Amino acid sequence: MADTTASASRKKRDSSSSPSDMKTGSKEDMRACDHDSSVHNQNEHEDDSNSTKNDIDQDTDEQHVQEERDHLRNVLLSFTYYRRHSLVRNQRRRRDYQALPQQHKRLVPDLLEKIDRVDRCIEANMEFVRDVVQECEAFIGMDPVQLMTEGYDQRDPPVTPGDMDKVRSTFRQFVRDWSVEGKKERDAAYRPILDTLKALYKDVPVEERRNINVLVPGAGLGRLAFEIAQNGFACQGNEFSFFMLICSHFILNRVSHVAQYSIYPYIHSFSNVRDTEHHLKPIKVPDVLPSDLPPSADFSMAAGDFVEIYSRESQIESWDVIATCFFIDTAKNIVEYLETIYNALKFGGTWINIGPLLYHFEDMPGESSIELSLDQVKRVAREIGFEIKEERTVPTTYTTYNDSMLKYLYESEFWVATKVQKKQNSK
Ligand SMILES: C[S@@+](CC[C@H](N)C(=O)[O-])C[C@H]1O[C@@H](n2cnc3c(N)ncnc32)[C@H](O)[C@@H]1O
Repeated sequence: MADTTASASRKKRDSSSSPSDMKTGSKEDMRACDHDSSVHNQNEHEDDSNSTKNDIDQDTDEQHVQEERDHLRNVLLSFTYYRRHSLVRNQRRRRDYQALPQQHKRLVPDLLEKIDRVDRCIEANMEFVRDVVQECEAFIGMDPVQLMTEGYDQRDPPVTPGDMDKVRSTFRQFVRDWSVEGKKERDAAYRPILDTLKALYKDVPVEERRNINVLVPGAGLGRLAFEIAQNGFACQGNEFSFFMLICSHFILNRVSHVAQYSIYPYIHSFSNVRDTEHHLKPIKVPDVLPSDLPPSADFSMAAGDFVEIYSRESQIESWDVIATCFFIDTAKNIVEYLETIYNALKFGGTWINIGPLLYHFEDMPGESSIELSLDQVKRVAREIGFEIKEERTVPTTYTTYNDSMLKYLYESEFWVATKVQKKQNSK
């Protein structure tokens, strides 16, 4: 069972579930927490007295707590409204079909049948989502139904299309991490990391690897972190999206058997479909039972912003390995990520990276974003104090529907770097 720590404070949230959604699906969430920084600035300049500062700190804390609560509520509502929202969208297809001239309808009677079947797939997806929400109480520390209903004004549209995008991409994330169908994608992205870890510590028997600490920032639904723990390492996944955290808590702690759920992740779009039967095929999750980890395994998930948590004093030089998979481009300031990785690693520790550079904040209005090219990223890494030992390009996909007529292929960059002494001229 994974220990899921929900205590760390969180800043920018729910940035993404898939790179292809990154630039469109998450802006409102991001902006929701933005006033944090202005409050801090005020603290710095206005008043030195401790009591006033404490008052402000307390206000800020309360504001944080309220924002967290509002945000969490919104995520839960997004899951809850999945069914209604999806059925309404599917109803539009039905209406458009009904409006066809008879001779056209006669040519595609199976289209109506498919639309009806999609309704049933939505219901099945909703059963899964309902269980995810119902089981999140232990993780969020309160009754999810109570949280969703408090102060809820029926007149407000409770969730945005962007929120619904995130719910839909969460289904695809389940395929990536917890289905047989996701194996090809995992083999491309996770296997190089796992193989590197095993090679690095080949002389340490699995049962003695508990002293080797591995951190996986931006852990998504937790499969990579789980497999690292399965190989005997002490592993902590870190994640700040409530969409991901609630779902990883569910899959890691609440599922009792393999293939317990059938989900239909691809039904939400009818475009680029090669084959109807394949399109409506159920995906069984999970493909392995996460609770099968031996009781001695050391596996946890830490909720919160990567930089905020791992630049703390207590985290300095405490990790043997940091493995970033499709993560470093989620930064507003990638240099800060690189520094945080460097500082949190022990001397001689290893940073393993794989992924593209699809900068998450590049097109976000009102957000700053530093977009370095690959050669710049590697140069900065070396300046900071990494020695890059191994590097290669690995073709990878991300939450791709294998049977689609449209697929994105990332020429991901993989590297293994060691923390060495900083160069003299860089502080
Ligand atoms: C593209 S996804 C990759 C997920 C997973 N590593 C995988 O390969 O499937 C990036 C993940 O990083 C998380 N994330 C983004 N910024 C973060 C931050 N500052 N702190 C912690 N997690 C973050 C996102 O919520 C998202 O789940």
